[in-house]
Amino acid sequence: MTATTALRSEHDHILTMIACLRAACVAAENGDGFDAETFQTGLDFIQNYADAWHHAKEEEHLFPALEAAGMPRDGGPIAVMLQEHVMGRSYVRKIADHLEEASHRDAVARSTVLNYTRAYANLMTGHIQKENGILFNMADQILLPEDHTRLEQAYQNAIPSGATAETGAYYEGIVATLCQQWDVDPREAASVGANFQCG
Ligand SMILES: [Fe+2]
Ligand SMILES: [Fe+2]
Repeated sequence: MTATTALRSEHDHILTMIACLRAACVAAENGDGFDAETFQTGLDFIQNYADAWHHAKEEEHLFPALEAAGMPRDGGPIAVMLQEHVMGRSYVRKIADHLEEASHRDAVARSTVLNYTRAYANLMTGHIQKENGILFNMADQILLPEDHTRLEQAYQNAIPSGATAETGAYYEGIVATLCQQWDVDPREAASVGANFQCG
């Protein structure tokens, strides 16, 4: 176990949710119906698990520990990761702002939800590939054994107020349910996270 073990596992769940959302986009685009419930569930997962749960651990604990170990905050991989978190939030706001109308058959709102869901899916897939393939490998090398132990404990502080360890299990359970609905293989979906190509 290192400071990135839990985060890599969370990436697997995020990528699996992304695969379910992509399947829901394909269904909607193919005329098989806009499954508002899947998009609502996906939005809840992205806001409360991917962002408030997972990104908070990176931003409040892992990235500061990497800075303390000598990695610059500006101009390096940390800056790129932070920028992508911000970009992801802006896409999610677009989805949130249009989902209600999209649920009521508004065609423009639906296409906005689909476009931003795809944009978020593409952004986060590349983001996770970079974290898994570059940043987390660097973290595993430069952090000291005591840093790993401290970070694993500190992640508890990043859990949003009102949430508990069961909240993580709850959201991971939601992903498992959507996998059944959309016929997504979680192992295949998560394997995308290991596909980082340099250059
Ligand atoms: Fe991240
Ligand atoms: Fe991440």
